[in-house]
Amino acid sequence: MSVMSCVTVILLIDLVCSGQVLWRIKDHVHNIQQAKVKQHLTHATPKKGTIHQPVDHFDRQNDKTLPQTYFVNDVYWQRSDGPVFLYIGGEGPLSKFSVLFGHHVEMAERHGALLVALEHRFYGESINPDGLETDKLRDLSSQQALADLAAFHHYISQRFSLSHRNTWISFGGSYAGALSAWLRGKFPHLIYGAVASSAPVYAVLDFSSYNRVVGHSLTNEAVGGSKKCVAEVKGAFAAVEAALLMGNETEVGKEFGCCETPLKLEDKTELLHSLADVFMGTVQYNEQGVAFSIAELCDIMTNKSDPREEAYDRLVKLVMMYRARENLPCLDVSHEKLFLELNNTTATSSYRQWFYQTCTEFGFYQTCEDDSCPFSRRFTLQSQTELCSRLFNISQDSLLVSIDFTNQYYGGNQPQTQRVLYVNGNIDPWAALSVVWNETMADNDRVIFINGTAHCMDMNSEKSVNKPALHQARKRIEERVTTWLKSAALKI
Ligand SMILES: *[C@@H]1O[C@H](CO)[C@@H](O)[C@H](O)[C@H]1NC(C)=O
Ligand SMILES: *[C@@H]1O[C@H](CO)[C@@H](O)[C@H](O)[C@H]1NC(C)=O
Ligand SMILES: *[C@@H]1O[C@H](CO)[C@@H](O)[C@H](O)[C@H]1NC(C)=O
Ligand SMILES: *[C@@H]1O[C@H](CO)[C@@H](O)[C@H](O)[C@H]1NC(C)=O
Ligand SMILES: *[C@@H]1O[C@H](CO)[C@@H](O)[C@H](O)[C@H]1NC(C)=O
Ligand SMILES: *[C@@H]1O[C@H](CO)[C@@H](O)[C@H](O)[C@H]1NC(C)=O
Ligand SMILES: *[C@@H]1O[C@H](CO)[C@@H](O)[C@H](O)[C@H]1NC(C)=O
Repeated sequence: MSVMSCVTVILLIDLVCSGQVLWRIKDHVHNIQQAKVKQHLTHATPKKGTIHQPVDHFDRQNDKTLPQTYFVNDVYWQRSDGPVFLYIGGEGPLSKFSVLFGHHVEMAERHGALLVALEHRFYGESINPDGLETDKLRDLSSQQALADLAAFHHYISQRFSLSHRNTWISFGGSYAGALSAWLRGKFPHLIYGAVASSAPVYAVLDFSSYNRVVGHSLTNEAVGGSKKCVAEVKGAFAAVEAALLMGNETEVGKEFGCCETPLKLEDKTELLHSLADVFMGTVQYNEQGVAFSIAELCDIMTNKSDPREEAYDRLVKLVMMYRARENLPCLDVSHEKLFLELNNTTATSSYRQWFYQTCTEFGFYQTCEDDSCPFSRRFTLQSQTELCSRLFNISQDSLLVSIDFTNQYYGGNQPQTQRVLYVNGNIDPWAALSVVWNETMADNDRVIFINGTAHCMDMNSEKSVNKPALHQARKRIEERVTTWLKSAALKI
């Protein structure tokens, strides 16, 4: 599995989750961002509300409803015909910060926009009262989520007496970035323009390119990576595997601070997964407050000042530092425990719901079966899709059919969309599934590719991160939004 999510400031956007460690990193980035946000906030209390959506928008016979949380911030909204900026929630809880902080909020201030945000169904507080049993999860899908957004548009329009004179622009990052693009594609009469940050709009069963980009980013000198760094990482993983293979589980378990000795084959794989997650999380959230940046991580992995230390020993050190910085008493390596968490219909981690969506719509399994991946070959597609069948009785064949449908239905990474801006960073492994520039593209007006940034970085407030390329990208995003608002005003 793989974690996605944007965890941006406030914006918990996020996607898929990999192992437990990556999922934890995602949550951690989110918490750091929220703490930062709190420091900056002085005024403004957004309105929180609940709307009741049909549990199934596509079945008129079904009159059950689902509570859905939303936030409204109207402090910047000055003219009754002013624009509306819709922030779309992703696969996790949404907080009030979604209308208080971030680049879209700064733009709302300058353009006098009404800010509204909607939590995604089945996440956070917007959970089906019947729970998360498999048959209830049937109503969890991106299509239902888009229908929720359309109904929310209607609801807000009534509440604030809006009309066609109010131009709606949608924003989202990671999975919610894809929703932003798709919302514009499916409801062009409701949404005038859409910004889709780090949006994996192309569904894929075997997401092997994720770890290819991770390997690539670890060699990228502009962010502190190097070829040497990747070579050391490869060496370290090979050594861990060799030690596990030769019956040294007890030592290995102790050295890496595992909660239990990885004796079973699947627990060994889980350990390797947890170790890989430290690298994957570091790359995906580079410079967003995770335990290490790529530069720090590579400094540690390539530090040969003690000639007695091997790559393996440096990995042990890295993981020890990681646990200390993240306050992690030990590393969970029990595959069964992971399974039980995913199987738990009352757990609050969002893990189960997102995994269900990967099994029914997107795949996104971060495998490591080709040469470009620096970790362990044990991360096979099989080991991940097995969980779909064990948890939800979904076979790999039906997974393929669903993924194919998703790409047909939304247009994959060659969508025929207009007024959708796809923003990505070249360090981010998820960029591989988004719309990025390509020589054959007639115009490059609809893509922004940021040199040196990771997942969803553009969504953060301009104050929080300062890199020239990022600053430039935010300027271009705002220029595009301004152009849309002007052209909409002309049409009216
Ligand atoms: C990205 O930035 C680095 C320096 O930060 C530079 O060396 C490299 O050429 C840039 N790449 C592109 C494609 O602009
Ligand atoms: C297994 O552990 C023993 C004792 O710590 C050590 O001497 C040996 O080198 C280890 N073997 C491998 C393959 O790591
Ligand atoms: C390299 O390792 C040595 C000891 O193992 C340590 O003293 C030094 O601070 C490390 N350097 C870096 C850049 O991490
Ligand atoms: C998984 O959960 C279902 C009910 O939600 C339960 O019937 C099943 O026994 C659980 N599986 C395991 C291995 O605990
Ligand atoms: C499910 O998760 C909840 C909350 O984390 C926990 O209290 C409960 O014991 C778990 N149930 C099972 C069957 O593991
Ligand atoms: C699992 O799916 C198969 C094929 O769709 C079906 O025949 C079978 O009854 C399902 N099993 C359970 C336990 O739902
Ligand atoms: C560029 O896009 C075209 C179609 O738009 C696609 O066939 C081709 O594979 C892409 N090239 C690269 C290098 O991604």
